[in-house]
Amino acid sequence: MQAPRLEIKNIVKSFGGRRVVDDVSLHVMPGQVTCLLGPSGCGKSTTLRIIAGVEMQDTGTIHVDGQLVCDTIHRVPPEGRSIGLMFQDFALFPHLSVGQNVAFGLKKGRDVGARVQELLNKVGMSRYIDDYPHQLSGGEQQRVALARALAPRPRIMLMDEPFSGLDDRLRDDIRDETLEVLKGEGTAVLLVTHEPGEAMRMADEIALMRDGEIVQQGAPYNIYNTPVDLKSASFFSDINVIRGEVKGALTETPFGQFLAPGVPDGTAVDIVIRPQHLKIDFDRGGRGPNPTSVDGTAARCVVERARFIGASSLVEFRMDHDGSVLKATVPSVFLPKPGTPLWLMIRRDRCFVFPVG
Ligand SMILES: Nc1ncnc2c1ncn2[C@@H]1O[C@H](COP(=O)(O)OP(=O)(O)O)[C@@H](O)[C@H]1O
Ligand SMILES: [Mg+2]
Repeated sequence: MQAPRLEIKNIVKSFGGRRVVDDVSLHVMPGQVTCLLGPSGCGKSTTLRIIAGVEMQDTGTIHVDGQLVCDTIHRVPPEGRSIGLMFQDFALFPHLSVGQNVAFGLKKGRDVGARVQELLNKVGMSRYIDDYPHQLSGGEQQRVALARALAPRPRIMLMDEPFSGLDDRLRDDIRDETLEVLKGEGTAVLLVTHEPGEAMRMADEIALMRDGEIVQQGAPYNIYNTPVDLKSASFFSDINVIRGEVKGALTETPFGQFLAPGVPDGTAVDIVIRPQHLKIDFDRGGRGPNPTSVDGTAARCVVERARFIGASSLVEFRMDHDGSVLKATVPSVFLPKPGTPLWLMIRRDRCFVFPVG
């Protein structure tokens, strides 16, 4: 098996007695993008700075292509790590032209000009080669920054929220272009972001971080569809939570029974379902649809409000049985009037059951 391009093991870093990075391990394969995803302040940038070598870990190791780069005794300096960096505010040199910026990190030689051209072509900026940074838009500067970071052919690219300064539509384009260029260069990328959408769009693998720890790691599809706990589920979307209590490995609710294998009797559990996975059915003169093994029992509710939000609609329901409000997103325009009685079901293959605690 191929060795990971980047592998960090058991990295710990404390500031003033507080563990900001708490036993973090992860790896990135060549040509792959791993996203370190988590809320602001959870320790993402500190982890990245440790890998870059501008911050020193308390314990733990960093390997690049199987070779030790840093533990608590040996330490390869930042410039010896073959790492490229890209940050939101990683400014271009204002007094250098686009071409000079991209050439900056390259050793003088015959092929510098060709490499600069090649990269500016890749990021679609070759006709700006003699322009200066202040003549470029934010998106254009970002493209040049990418070319500059990639010029010395780093084995690893570390990117810290590199797109957060760009407006929405431009950001989508630049993300996709950046990804294509990085994949083309075969660089291993560790991308830090607090936006789940960005992580899912860009990553081959997501490492979900919370309070200094990686709580879950896997492909975007798996992280989204099999979250390890309620907080992980709610980091990716709004969720609905139905509280229940376990008896004989089952939880009885107004939506029927849910399996809770291995959970002891008397334990409180949260049944979690994303708004797009609630199933809505019509009222049939005071009766709902018949129970099925996939959808369980329908529970009656009335529409509280319905809003059109573009590609989908958001409908809030007040449940008859306890007055709680559940939210559903439905594709296209479904805008039932407030007060309309409807029935809700929870798909067993789409919900998560987590012990409370
Ligand atoms: N040099 C430092 N000295 C003290 N505290 C720091 C230092 N750098 C980061 N922190 C703290 O560590 C925590 C994690 O910071 P950071 O890694 O920047 O989080 P993120 O990038 O996930 O938003 C924050 O509470 C931050 O205030
Ligand atoms: Mg940060």
